[in-house]
Amino acid sequence: MASDLTQAEQEKCYRCHTTGYGQGGFKNYKETPELADVGCETCHGPGSKHAASGGDPAFIKKPTDKTCQKCHVQERVSAFRKRPILHAGAH
Ligand code: HEC
Ligand code: HEC
Ligand code: HEC
Repeated sequence: MASDLTQAEQEKCYRCHTTGYGQGGFKNYKETPELADVGCETCHGPGSKHAASGGDPAFIKKPTDKTCQKCHVQERVSAFRKRPILHAGAH
């Protein structure tokens, strides 16, 4: 959909469609392509301390329902499987 959207419009999508936007994670597709999707750290929090500690699980966040509801908001849940798929050209 990116080609039909202005840069400012695209930036509104980043908080739900990338990992860590505005929190030291995703910046843009050129600088941080590896964070351009919803990756592990979206739900489990930043993993750098976990990696540096040699894998201490205490540094990994356990997701709760609240974790999901940041992006799966009521408005989207109501439209679930309708609007996004229509706009993505599935039908
Ligand atoms: C509040 C969070 C949120 C924002 C902001 C958001 N999305 Fe989404 N989007 C979702 C979620 C969650 C899903 C998947 C589940 C669903 O359909 O609700 C989704 C699904 C989609 C899909 C279907 C993807 C697929 O694989 O089926 C497309 C396309 C999409 N969004 C485009 C956009 C675009 C373009 C923008 C910005 C204009 C945007 N979204 C902004 C949360 C968001
Ligand atoms: C959409 C959110 C989400 C994403 C993205 C995600 N996870 Fe998870 N993960 C969960 C949930 C929810 C659980 C179950 C937590 C629980 O048991 O309460 C889980 C559990 C786990 C567990 C088991 C933890 C335990 O204590 O047994 C591991 C390991 C894990 N995830 C690793 C990953 C890795 C690696 C990635 C990326 C490749 C990833 N996760 C991406 C939501 C997510
Ligand atoms: C940062 C935003 C974000 C968070 C947090 C998030 N999701 Fe998602 N989720 C998305 C987006 C965007 C999509 C659709 C496109 C994709 O897969 O990237 C999606 C897709 C899904 C789908 C597939 C929906 C379909 O139409 O097939 C499921 C199921 C799902 N998420 C469950 C969860 C659960 C459970 C959690 C919490 C543990 C969670 N998500 C947390 C953004 C998020």
